[in-house]
Amino acid sequence: MNIEMNENTTLYGIIGHPLGHTLSPAVHNSAFRACGIDAVYLPFETLDPFTCLKAAKALPIKGLSVTIPYKSLIVKHLDFVELTAARIGAVNTVINRGGKLHGYNTDASAAREALEDVLKPQETTCLVLGAGGAARAVGFALKGVCRSLTIANRTARHAEELARSLGCGWVGLSDVCDVKADLVINTTPVGMHPQTGSIPVPERALEHASAVMDIIYRPKRTALLELAERKGCRTIRGEEMFLRQAAAQFRLWTGFEAPFERMKDTFEGAMKGIK
Ligand code: ATR
Repeated sequence: MNIEMNENTTLYGIIGHPLGHTLSPAVHNSAFRACGIDAVYLPFETLDPFTCLKAAKALPIKGLSVTIPYKSLIVKHLDFVELTAARIGAVNTVINRGGKLHGYNTDASAAREALEDVLKPQETTCLVLGAGGAARAVGFALKGVCRSLTIANRTARHAEELARSLGCGWVGLSDVCDVKADLVINTTPVGMHPQTGSIPVPERALEHASAVMDIIYRPKRTALLELAERKGCRTIRGEEMFLRQAAAQFRLWTGFEAPFERMKDTFEGAMKGIK
């Protein structure tokens, strides 16, 4: 995409590591173009998110997306954190207002919307794989809506901490097959481009599942979703959450309604020909 820039062009970006998979720049740049907004959005792959935040304060960087593995880590390094994001304990959206960084979370509402068709209030038993920033948002979205919620994670201590803050159950990954869940949601990076063959849990963990969501959007059909399809489960792809969280970021940054169809078309176009 050719992007024209001038001395007034506003700068946005995404911080995370790794960022090789990200389609956020393509989607946000296309949204800016569609709305005639003079802005550009760049990937800032970094191992030093805190210096990036300082740079954002000092430079005219108007907004940042935050992704793996920094969504929880950065919360304490912001000047203000909106109430929902503070409750979740994770920020995926930063706005720079005159050198003060404000944190928001658009993942939780995006997850809730993406799961709307498969989640039966007070009936569905849910299993969330992972206990990082994205899992916090997904867990928050499900809390109080489903019948039961269990967190399963590689590092038991992280699962326990998140479960305590959500008031739900937890297991280590080795015990994940003991959990009988209707809905399984993967929030770990296992299966993400370029390691596309991996699955975060053994097949038996899907034994009772009728629906599976993976928040990974690249590839579109992760190995977990392929397995879930073969088992006859309904599947929800990562793009359902990805595009919604991006649209909500766009609204927060610009004050304009997001051009959702254009963002979706750009996503589909970018996914063509890549794995
Ligand atoms: P994000 O902010 O995107 O959620 P994160 O906070 O780094 O990123 O969380 C990543 C989650 O994926 C964590 O729950 C992590 O497990 P640990 O708590 O054990 O670190 C999980 N994860 C990352 N790589 C994994 C792997 N190879 N196998 C299983 N779980 C993994």
